[in-house]
Amino acid sequence: MNVLNVVPMRSAPPEPPEAPHVPVLRAEVLAALDPAEGKVFVDATLGAGGHSEAILRVSGTKVIGLDRDPSALALASERLERFGARFRAVKAEFGDVASVLGEIGVTGVDGILADVGVSSMQLDQAERGMSFRHDGPLDMRMDPTSGETALELIARLSDDELADVIFKLGEERRSRRIARCIKQAEQANELVTTTDLRRAVIRAVGPARVGGVDPATRTFQALRIAVNGELDQLSALLEAAPRVLNPGGVLAIISFHSLEDRIVKRAFQDRSTWRPLSKKPITATDTELSRNPRSRSAKLRAARVGGGAEEGADE
Ligand SMILES: C[S@@+](CC[C@H](N)C(=O)[O-])C[C@H]1O[C@@H](n2cnc3c(N)ncnc32)[C@H](O)[C@@H]1O
Repeated sequence: MNVLNVVPMRSAPPEPPEAPHVPVLRAEVLAALDPAEGKVFVDATLGAGGHSEAILRVSGTKVIGLDRDPSALALASERLERFGARFRAVKAEFGDVASVLGEIGVTGVDGILADVGVSSMQLDQAERGMSFRHDGPLDMRMDPTSGETALELIARLSDDELADVIFKLGEERRSRRIARCIKQAEQANELVTTTDLRRAVIRAVGPARVGGVDPATRTFQALRIAVNGELDQLSALLEAAPRVLNPGGVLAIISFHSLEDRIVKRAFQDRSTWRPLSKKPITATDTELSRNPRSRSAKLRAARVGGGAEEGADE
């Protein structure tokens, strides 16, 4: 773990500049977390720091921001520097939130936010190899300093194991054919870049877009989720959160596809631990949808720690 600079608090922070981009479901996240003087929050997915900034704009709040991506931490730390000691950045995986807080001497927090998945910054950086829209190495790691790359994963797995990954994490029906073509390319040393991977998928299933979606979309999603252990991380966060939240504290999770949302929904069904703030997931308003296409598939679920029914919850 790597605790970044904690900048001393200035008495009067200057007016904040306009945010680089507005984070998804910002108003809805604030309504769920209810930031107020003296409350401490974990932003488990700091990214560009948009949600953290929204919380820190409420005076007297504190945010501990986690990210596994060193470049996101650097960017957000610069953006949030003006909040001084009210903000602290930690390089960590959010599945380790309990030990991270223990190491920095924080015994409990009032809210945790996770806006899971990759950021648009990560998708847009060709050298990270996350998207077939940019030609780059087959890497896909959110933290480029540790773990196995997508190419190393593909090389390690058998045809059947790779097909299982693509089927389960990409929900791709044609996974066997796709896995075979990917492994053939890899064994012929013709699998180096994202373009090569897309070509192997197209060799298996053809170039037709289904419902306007590129044929390689599901395969890329599956490999990215596998490389980053995304679903295991989410489960670990859901398991750790009740131990680190203060009584009445809130866990808010924004997910972007059904595999993630299903994990959150199931965890919040444990009414001996969680009181969901709403029965249905919260989605973007028409206004947000028209401004931010990324919000289209976003689903926010939030729950208060402690058993029983939430007042006003739509049971
Ligand atoms: C969608 S972005 C978050 C955007 C952020 N809410 C904002 O307002 O700018 C997701 C971020 O979470 C990070 N991330 C994803 N999974 C993580 C994990 N298991 N542990 C730590 N960081 C993670 C990614 O590196 C990425 O920077």
